[in-house]
Amino acid sequence: MKATVIAHSKFTISEIDPRLYGSFIEHLGRAVYTGIYEPDHPTADCDGMRQDVIDLVKELQVPIVRYPGGNFVSAYNWEDGIGPREERPVRLDLAWHTSESNQVGIHEFADWCETVGTEMMLAVNLGSRGLDEARNFLEYVNHEGGSTWSDKRRANGREAPFDVRLWCLGNEMDGPWQIGHKTADEYGRLAHETAKAMRAFDSRLELVVCGSSNAHMPTYPQWEATVLEHTYNEVDHISLHMYFENRAKDTASYLARSLELDTYIGTVAGVIAYVKSKKRSKKDVYISFDEWNVWYHSKERDKAILEGHNGWPEAPPLLEDDYNFEDVLQVGCILNTFINRADVVKIACLAQLVNVIAPIMTVPGGPAWRQTIFYPYYYASVYGRGTALKLMVDSPSYTVEDIGTVPYLDVSAVHDATSGHVTFFLVNRHLSEALDLDVGLLEFGALSIVEDQVIAHSDLGITNTAETPDNVVPVKGEGALFADGRLTAPIAPLSYRMIRLK
Ligand code: AHR
Repeated sequence: MKATVIAHSKFTISEIDPRLYGSFIEHLGRAVYTGIYEPDHPTADCDGMRQDVIDLVKELQVPIVRYPGGNFVSAYNWEDGIGPREERPVRLDLAWHTSESNQVGIHEFADWCETVGTEMMLAVNLGSRGLDEARNFLEYVNHEGGSTWSDKRRANGREAPFDVRLWCLGNEMDGPWQIGHKTADEYGRLAHETAKAMRAFDSRLELVVCGSSNAHMPTYPQWEATVLEHTYNEVDHISLHMYFENRAKDTASYLARSLELDTYIGTVAGVIAYVKSKKRSKKDVYISFDEWNVWYHSKERDKAILEGHNGWPEAPPLLEDDYNFEDVLQVGCILNTFINRADVVKIACLAQLVNVIAPIMTVPGGPAWRQTIFYPYYYASVYGRGTALKLMVDSPSYTVEDIGTVPYLDVSAVHDATSGHVTFFLVNRHLSEALDLDVGLLEFGALSIVEDQVIAHSDLGITNTAETPDNVVPVKGEGALFADGRLTAPIAPLSYRMIRLK
């Protein structure tokens, strides 16, 4: 079966905002405690942060990390996480039915971000709290000094402001599960007033208002329209979330879900355009897809804790999905969708980064290791910087009942005009047949293949574990050729492949 692609250096979608490859750390399960922070761990640095985890996060070149939640933020008191550690209160976390020791707060997290070389994307609590908490937190984090909150920060050991540019106005406020859940009008008003107050402090902040928690919410997409009608001129991004699952064990249908994601993005882009016109506004609002991933493997296991049968445990294992090879393909298709929508999606956060639905796992006191999905995320983050190319694609396809026509070839491409690299990210969705890929490359100058990595396995269900962390790893691709402006390569059934030319 043949799949034909044409790429032209001048036919582009958009510059890719590097924050398309962001991630997320929530005070949830073992993301923070025994994830990034474990003072007794043999690799712990002087701040109690695990060096082995820092090294893996650095490898991923994560540009931005959302913090501290998630559902957690909607009943979080940020003040609990500042000042001497021994005086910090233990609180009940109502979102995840656990206890929060507050041994890590904004200072410790900011220091960790500096160590790993990433930026913070902070969320304010618009669930149990509101405008006042948000303005105080902002003053604490970003004001130089000479005011109550900024001087408290300085007294707590941090002289210079943290200078956080990107702020989320709450989390999933459309969700009935959210502490302080609101209607679109209630939330829209609160978000508008909070944004106004935050901008009164600093007009250059980037603000993210909550969109829908998923495309199956009964309020979607009216939620986006109502919320943006309240907030359009005060915000820069509207957030979307989506998690993927394959409970039915139907690979063909599972791998088609990225088309649903594409429709979701397209619909919200339409709502943004509608509100922009209605308001006669000159400014643009973009999508911050600040939670996405596969999440279903751990759901049964977590029920006991979430339903409160275990009391209020501190940092128990929660949402520890064991990712398999099939999920590599899914994550590859999701990342391709974001690259192909880089004109409207400027920020996206893989939820999450360590232990909780994460590419990086740790054993308390033991090793840190890479899950299968680490690799497609790694390739996109490290090599997917530059300009997204508008490809012409002709691929054989199959049909999925609730979706329609699904091409076997899923592909995106990125051109880095500065370095001269052109990178293709490819997934073959076909269960049993290879695709003969034929790509015409126009107006890129002289090129040759500089890297070719394949992820494939005969067992879709195989996972990496602490004992066998290399069950699923990339290997060098074979059979790709570049001649006379054409790249040809056999793309094996159910495989992920990244090919770079320069
Ligand atoms: O990422 C896990 C949870 O999923 C987040 O806390 C919440 O925002 C979403 O429902």
